[in-house]
Amino acid sequence: MTISESSSDRATTGVPPLLEVRNLVVRYGRTGPAAVDDVSFTIARGETLGLVGESGSGKTTIGRAILGLQPVTSGEIWFDGKDITRASVAERRALQGDLRAVFQDPFSSLNPRRHIGDSLAEPLKVSGVPGPERSVRVDEALASVGLPDGSAERYPRQFSGGQRQRVAIARALVTDPRLVVCDEAVSALDLSTQAQILNLLAELRRGADLGYLFIAHDMAVVEFLAQRILVLNRGRVVEQGTTAEVLGNPQDSYTRVLIAASPVPDPDEQVRRREAWQRLRAEMKAAAAAAPATAVANGLN
Ligand SMILES: Nc1ncnc2c1ncn2[C@@H]1O[C@H](COP(=O)(O)OP(=O)(O)O)[C@@H](O)[C@H]1O
Ligand SMILES: [Mg+2]
Repeated sequence: MTISESSSDRATTGVPPLLEVRNLVVRYGRTGPAAVDDVSFTIARGETLGLVGESGSGKTTIGRAILGLQPVTSGEIWFDGKDITRASVAERRALQGDLRAVFQDPFSSLNPRRHIGDSLAEPLKVSGVPGPERSVRVDEALASVGLPDGSAERYPRQFSGGQRQRVAIARALVTDPRLVVCDEAVSALDLSTQAQILNLLAELRRGADLGYLFIAHDMAVVEFLAQRILVLNRGRVVEQGTTAEVLGNPQDSYTRVLIAASPVPDPDEQVRRREAWQRLRAEMKAAAAAAPATAVANGLN
């Protein structure tokens, strides 16, 4: 098991990590078990950390704590050298352009009666960006995720599932953030659309100093984007290391189950996991070999 030592990183480079989570504990209710139990990790500038674990392992809770949507029981969250564990509403507002999110179902948070361009302009408005610049940046963001011209004047219902996730990504990127929390951002999509969106995220990251916390229950999805992987089981970190280390030489039996490398009790389940894994890999390869991720969205997914 490799635990990255953020404090020594800092000692050697002098630059604080982009994100540092220290001994995070989150409890729902006063007496319940900890949904997140003593979790520590860092994300460097421009780095993608994959956070993987079965349903209920605490992934979403960690993401929400970082975004200030879930109160922290104990521990600390530092962003860019600042303690944001209990940031005030005003402090959170100041952070909203730097720290963004893409969720599994982004349209639950988009107003169905507003043009998506207006929804995308909202965070820029909060940051005080003037009107004319707002519409230029909204159009740029929509184009950067491969959506056709005129998308800003359309309503949420006029987009397909894959296009909606592109809209959500554009909404996250429109403020030029430092860190994006992606929580099961491709999980609801069919495999070939998943592969397209993953390729798009990889493409958008290129050349940008953009960090991702990439949350998924599916190791195959995480493997594709993450430089490092943290494996979570029942709120605790069971393994943490580079993607090559964790996948090539998993130290924990739970990790081996997640990557379908060890027998699970149900042989049908094992076959199902292997096949799902292989199918997604094949789709990823096909999507990567096809046109650039931004070029395939028009009229497709
Ligand atoms: N609002 C909530 N109230 C009470 N318990 C919750 C709430 N949200 C999540 N939990 C519990 O916290 C644990 C972690 O959930 P979650 O962070 O959603 O896991 P994951 O995203 O890995 O599926 C689970 O046991 C879940 O039942
Ligand atoms: Mg979740």
